[in-house]
Formats: sequence, structure tokens, C-alpha cells
Amino acid sequence: MDISDEDDTYPFAGYKKVLAGIYEAIRLGQGKRVLDIGFGTGVLAGMLYKNGYEITGIDFSERMIQIAQEKMPSARLIHHDFSKGLPAELADSKYDAIICTYAIHHLDDAAKTKFLKELQTHLNIAGKIYIGDVAFCTREELNACRESCGDEWDGDEFYIVAEEVSREIVGVQFEKVSYCAGILSLDGAVSIGKE
Ligand SMILES: C[S@@+](CC[C@H](N)C(=O)[O-])C[C@H]1O[C@@H](n2cnc3c(N)ncnc32)[C@H](O)[C@@H]1O
Repeated sequence: MDISDEDDTYPFAGYKKVLAGIYEAIRLGQGKRVLDIGFGTGVLAGMLYKNGYEITGIDFSERMIQIAQEKMPSARLIHHDFSKGLPAELADSKYDAIICTYAIHHLDDAAKTKFLKELQTHLNIAGKIYIGDVAFCTREELNACRESCGDEWDGDEFYIVAEEVSREIVGVQFEKVSYCAGILSLDGAVSIGKE
């Protein structure tokens, strides 16, 4: 990740800026309850944890849970595959921020839309979802990046095209961070009056 980010190459060009941008947006927002989807080693969640945020996370890797739990002893880390939606034990929980960095590209576009809509129902008033990943404003930008990457392009991953997500979900904003990365922010279903 670090090498690809430092060399400004796909897929991780902009990785640190994406995480820093989400961290800053959460810091400027309200509330301390954060849900991290696919937290990995807990790079971003760990920064938030150190600064007093209450972290819940889901990941399907036992190894990642072990590493992240050492970093965040009081965090609630749940072993779960998010392709099945949120785990039952989180059915009634709400968060001030829901974050997902470099993980949601494992879901195809239809599954991503369904999952994002589910996440919207788990936000507190004024809460936000922040998705940081390989992402593009338009399909044309994605195609141009794919062509320039050649064999490096991972055809098994489904990257966000913000313009297309906006057609499916209300309350979406997109901030481009590098030529292949960006932050998609979504408001909650309650605040925009839609389920
Ligand atoms: C590339 S890592 C990113 C980790 C971290 N969010 C970051 O930005 O550094 C992707 C993480 O998502 C997790 N993951 C991928 N697909 C998943 C799924 N369907 N359910 C749960 N976790 C998943 C992996 O186990 C891994 O920890």
C-alpha cells in the first residue's frame, strides 16, 4: 500500500490522503460513535480510537481482528462477512460516522448500492458515511485509468463511479483525492427523508 501510494500508482495512489480526509471530516463532525467496515489492521480506526472515539468494526479476517484488537483493546470488533449485510447484533445500533476504506470494492455495484442503503439507516441524525477507495467521478475516468494500468488493473474489483452511485442513492457527495481514489460521503436515510 505504502509503495503504491508513495509512487502515486494504482491502486493505492492517494491512500494516506483518503484516510486523512476521512479522519478530518469525522473530527469536524458531531459524536464519537464510529462503525468501521473492513477495518484491516485498524489504521484509521486506530487513529480515531486514540482520540477518544468509540469503535465498532466488522472484518472477516481473524488475523486482522487480532492485530486491530491489540491496537484498540476496548473496541467492539466483530467477525463477519459484510457481503451478507450488517451482522444481526448491530441491527439496532446507530453511529455518528460509518467508514469503509479500501474494502467495499469487493461488492458488485448492485450489492454496493443495497449495502450503502442499509448503512444509511444506521446513522444518527447528522451522521455520515465515508467510503474511501479506488473511485472515479465518471465511468469514462474509470475506463481511462483501466487502460493506462494495463495488466496491473484488477478486473475482480468493482470500483465506485460516483456519478452512477448518485443516480441510485440520494445525498451523495464525492471528493476526488488522486487520479484513482476518492471519498464518497453519504447522509443518512432519516436526514434526507428516504428509506
Ligand atoms: C485492503 S484492506 C483495508 C483495510 C483498512 N480499511 C484500510 O484502509 O487500511 C480490506 C479489509 O477488508 C476486509 N474485507 C474484505 N472483504 C470483506 C468482507 N466481505 N467482509 C468483511 N471484511 C472484508 C479484509 O479482511 C481486509 O481487512
